Amino acid sequence: MTQSKPLKTESILPVPDQDALFQSQKLIECIKAALQKQGGAISFDEYMKLALYEPGLGYYSAGSRKFGSDGDFVTAPELSPIFSQCLARQCEQVLNELGTGNILELGAGTGAMARDILLELEKQNSLPDKYLILEVSADLKQRQQDNLKETIPHLLDRVTWLDTLPVEGVSGVVLANEVLDALPVKRFKKTSTGFKEMKVGLGDNQFIWVGSDAEDKLLKSLEGLENDLAAPFPENYISEINTQLEQWLSGLEKVLYRGVMIFIDYGYSTAEYYHPERMDGSLLCHYRHRVHADPFYNPGLQDITSSANFTAVAESADAVGLHVSGYTNQTYFLFGCGLEELLADMNQLDIKAQTKIAQQVRILTMPEEMGERFKVMALTKKYDNALKGFALMDQRVRL
Ligand SMILES: C[S@@+](CC[C@H](N)C(=O)[O-])C[C@H]1O[C@@H](n2cnc3c(N)ncnc32)[C@H](O)[C@@H]1O
Repeated sequence: MTQSKPLKTESILPVPDQDALFQSQKLIECIKAALQKQGGAISFDEYMKLALYEPGLGYYSAGSRKFGSDGDFVTAPELSPIFSQCLARQCEQVLNELGTGNILELGAGTGAMARDILLELEKQNSLPDKYLILEVSADLKQRQQDNLKETIPHLLDRVTWLDTLPVEGVSGVVLANEVLDALPVKRFKKTSTGFKEMKVGLGDNQFIWVGSDAEDKLLKSLEGLENDLAAPFPENYISEINTQLEQWLSGLEKVLYRGVMIFIDYGYSTAEYYHPERMDGSLLCHYRHRVHADPFYNPGLQDITSSANFTAVAESADAVGLHVSGYTNQTYFLFGCGLEELLADMNQLDIKAQTKIAQQVRILTMPEEMGERFKVMALTKKYDNALKGFALMDQRVRL
């Protein structure tokens, strides 16, 4: 997502219309029921799961626009087809070296990335046998189908939508752009008496944070994490941790018969993620292109994200038998995949079109925009070739 500085919620956010507020209220009732069932408080990952994915009500499951200028945020594939064209060049390398194969995209948003990757691979004569899309949101699945039917009808027979990971396995490439940041996380606080889990409770008819003793499994993870840091967490330090990552990657590892997984997301290494100066964690919410840090604001109407911890992704990958084959920032990755050649091909376009593309490339690659904040990680299985996206710079030593 392109991003600006977090705001204070009350002051600046646009007021949703009555229908949207009604929808949010239904989700609030659903979350309250979950709270009641569990003695008054639920873990934040459960809250996040309900707020984003509760069927028919959650942010990703219900029908709000989400992506684009009239939505809540813009992702790289929405910003410019060049992003997906570069990614297609990476897929092309893997598919050609494997001889054949499929692409599996996780969480395909509006379908923009699938469309532009398929068009680029068609141009390069390297189409995958199948382009599988695993989409947990029924609303987005419908939008992807409408989009691809309209824009690439001649390639539609290669696209298959899945509700769960494919049983028969994939040889080829697994892609996930801005999916890691949408995975539910737990929240914790380091206090003078140790770690507390920050759960979600109810106070004065509003959701509030409730500190409770961290259960054994979470406590072990947090103590292990703290041991890996240069210094213990300072008192009152708040942050997030994804305790489901290994299990999630293990599911993907079982599905990948041979090939490469590429994760692109805004994120850091463990040392950067839990830097002492990042006292309030990385939780961010997106509503109509405003960014703020209150996940309890109109649940169901806004996106809730937390940055990816790429060291944790690498460690979990290692634990489930995947090899970490590359880690770099978005700029190096795009240039490694051939951004410069793609731009050179656009020389024939008129000046207006070239200016537009130059602006898009600036947002994709400038360090203060998406270029440095976004990282790319490749995990491989039974695939030893060097990947072109990491040829210019591989920063695995930073993990
Ligand atoms: C921020 S959107 C990114 C969409 C798209 N990749 C893009 O870049 O425009 C997050 C996406 O992740 C999907 N998602 C969330 N959890 C998922 C999971 N466990 N498996 C697959 N997709 C998931 C959501 O449904 C949504 O499509």
